[in-house]
Amino acid sequence: MDDDQHFITTARWVSACPITSLEQREPFLLEVDEDNQIAVIKVNEDYYAIRNSCPHTGGPLHMGDIEDFPTPCNEEGEEKPAIVCPWHAWTFFLHNGLQVDVPQEEGGEKIETFETKLKDGHIMVKVTTKKAVDF
Ligand code: FES
Repeated sequence: MDDDQHFITTARWVSACPITSLEQREPFLLEVDEDNQIAVIKVNEDYYAIRNSCPHTGGPLHMGDIEDFPTPCNEEGEEKPAIVCPWHAWTFFLHNGLQVDVPQEEGGEKIETFETKLKDGHIMVKVTTKKAVDF
């Protein structure tokens, strides 16, 4: 690793789409720029945003199905929505990005999640960008 390399993280709110245009469990692809493709998903009254690239081999997550799975250590059997990658079926919870079947301590992957909010009838996504800078 280069000792002189540092990173700057910036964040901004981006309008994804009108609330009325989003169907239940039908991911919407938000293309912020070349490096930022985000899948925006509505489940009931909750809105989720995730990085649209599967950590396995880059599958387009916005083309995956949304299914409910029990959360780990949940004795009451609560289920949370997760997205199933269309290429090889790796599955990730929408609320925290964690892989459903493989705990992180056993090598499970995690997808990046983004904060969402509603404003003026639109779904907003807080897009974070990390850039390498040299000093
Ligand atoms: S690319 Fe997503 S499971 Fe293989």
